[in-house]
Amino acid sequence: MHAPLPGRLIVHYSATARLFHWITALLVVVAYIVSVGGREARVYSSASDFERGLHELLGLTVFALTLARLCWRIFVPPPSHPELPAWMEFGARLGHWALYGLLVLTPLTAILGAWLEGHPLTPLGAGDIRPWLAPSRELGLSLADIHGWLGDVLIWLAGAHAAVALYHHFWRRDTVLMSMLPGR
Ligand code: HEM
Ligand code: HEM
Repeated sequence: MHAPLPGRLIVHYSATARLFHWITALLVVVAYIVSVGGREARVYSSASDFERGLHELLGLTVFALTLARLCWRIFVPPPSHPELPAWMEFGARLGHWALYGLLVLTPLTAILGAWLEGHPLTPLGAGDIRPWLAPSRELGLSLADIHGWLGDVLIWLAGAHAAVALYHHFWRRDTVLMSMLPGR
């Protein structure tokens, strides 16, 4: 393992993109930690109200931030890393789009699942958001299950993604990690 080389030119992500990235990473991890599991009766019991409300608040914030971030990205594209081999750039792009896909689909399946089951959304401190869809319980229950799976996949993929970022920094000694860290 080596220390990164000093005095490198670092092309950073924009300050806004970095803020989106780190706030989202933090919210996803906390949302995952406080997620409520088990049968529907447990998830929507009054004993789970606080945990579920917090989980929904964090998850809905991730959803809103991701939509805003994707719009932002159209106008301010990310920096490229021309020093990397083409296959590595391609792999990074694939991984990033998979993460974006999960950041949209994980909250979306939760929202649709809860509504189709006939439950309002109950984000902490924001009141109830009544279903906008007619109930369809079987589909709702399946979407709620898929939501849990997608949440797990998101955490595993984000973990692998973080490990790759550390590999770039400590083994390849390139500027990939630094492009996402604070600094000018
Ligand atoms: C990126 C954000 C999110 C992540 C990583 C995430 C993750 C998870 C995970 C892993 C579970 C399963 C927990 C277990 O079985 O132990 C779960 C369950 C749940 N999540 Fe999320 N979630 C997110 C966003 C949301 C949002 C936006 C909502 C609702 C507005 C929500 C509502 C729920 C509900 C109601 C359950 C219980 C599902 C059931 O009925 O079985 N989540 N979440
Ligand atoms: C839940 C946690 C995380 C999520 C959902 C996530 C998601 C993402 C996404 C979607 C991108 C692509 C940005 C774009 O091109 O617009 C990205 C880039 C990046 N992330 Fe993460 N990330 C997470 C955690 C981490 C952690 C813990 C690290 C560092 C250890 C990290 C390091 C980076 C770096 C260095 C880039 C830029 C890579 C490049 O330009 O090729 N991320 N991340």
